[in-house]
Amino acid sequence: MSAGTPLENSPAHVPVLYHEVLQYLQPSQEMKFVDGTLGAAGHAYGILQQSAPAGQLLGLDLDPTAIALAEKKLAPFSDRVVVALASYSNIRQEIARINWQSVDGVLVDLGVSSMQLDTPEKGFSFQSDGPLDMRFNPEQEQSAREVVNQYAQTELVTIFRKYGEMSGAGRIAEAIIKARPIETTGQLTKVISSVVKINPRKAHPATLVFQAIRIEVNQELAGISAFLPEATSVLHSGGRLAVISFHSLEDRIVKHYFQLESKDCICPPKQPICTCGHKASIRILTKKSIQASPEEMKFNSRARSARLRVVEKL
Ligand SMILES: C[S@@+](CC[C@H](N)C(=O)[O-])C[C@H]1O[C@@H](n2cnc3c(N)ncnc32)[C@H](O)[C@@H]1O
Repeated sequence: MSAGTPLENSPAHVPVLYHEVLQYLQPSQEMKFVDGTLGAAGHAYGILQQSAPAGQLLGLDLDPTAIALAEKKLAPFSDRVVVALASYSNIRQEIARINWQSVDGVLVDLGVSSMQLDTPEKGFSFQSDGPLDMRFNPEQEQSAREVVNQYAQTELVTIFRKYGEMSGAGRIAEAIIKARPIETTGQLTKVISSVVKINPRKAHPATLVFQAIRIEVNQELAGISAFLPEATSVLHSGGRLAVISFHSLEDRIVKHYFQLESKDCICPPKQPICTCGHKASIRILTKKSIQASPEEMKFNSRARSARLRVVEKL
C-alpha cells in the first residue's frame, strides 16, 4: 500500500464552529448546499448527514489533495455530492455547470486547513522547513518564491503593512532583499528573526509576514470580495450564507458587505432624500460575529480566531 502524500498522512482537520454552522444553515431533506472551501470535508459531512436522505452538496476547493481527501470522506454520500476543483469566487459558474438554479445554503471556511499547515511541502508554515510555495492551487503561476525573491522592496513593505498589519515591515523587507535568493520557509523565518525581536508573550513575527505573503500569493481578499455578491446571488429567498473568517482583514470585508447589502438606502447619512435606489437583499442573522466556545478553543487552537457571520437572502 502506498504511504500517500504528506498531506494525506497529516492529522485530520477539525472543523471549527461545527455545531454553530449546522444550527444556522439548518440542513434538511431536499435542500441544496455549496461548501466553497471543502478542505477535509468536516462541515460538508455534517451538512450531508443532517440533510439525509435527499439533501445535495456541491463542494469546491482549489487544492487537488484536499479534493481527493474530501471525496474519500464523503464516499458514503456519493450519490448526493459533486466535488469540483474550483475557486469559491466562481460559485455561480460551478452551480450552472451542474444545472442548479439556486441553493439553500452556502458556506465558506476561509484560509488554510491544519493539514495544509502541517505539510511542509505546501510552504504555509514558518514552523517547519519547506519550499516557499503557499499556493492553494498548485497550477497557479505565482508562488511565495516569486513574491519573496522578485518583488521590489516597496512592494514588500506594502503587502506586509496591508495584509500583515504589522510594525517593522521596512526592516523585514530590507533584510529580505539583502538575503536573496531565499529558497525555503526556514531561511525566510531566519531572516525575519534576525531583524525583529521575538517576544515570547506575542505571536512570532513570522506569523504576520507569512500571512501577508499567503494573502498576496492567493489574492485572497480580492477573492472574498468577488465571492460575496456571487454567493448572495445564487441563494433563493430564505437561503443562508455563512462565512467563517480567521483575521480582521477578512472579517472586515464580510462585515461591511453584509451591512451594506442589508440596507435599503446607502446614501450618505446627512442626505435628506434617498437618491441611490438601493434595496436590501439580505438580512443579518448574527448581529455580532459568533465565536467558538471556551471548550472548543481549548481543544482546537485554530478556533480561537474564528468568527462566523451569517445572512439570509430576502
Ligand atoms: C479552513 S479549510 C476548510 C476546512 C473545511 N471546512 C473542513 O471542515 O474540513 C480551507 C480550505 O479552503 C481552500 N481554499 C482556499 N482558497 C480557496 C478558494 N479561493 N476557493 C476554494 N477553496 C479555497 C483551501 O485549499 C482549504 O482546503
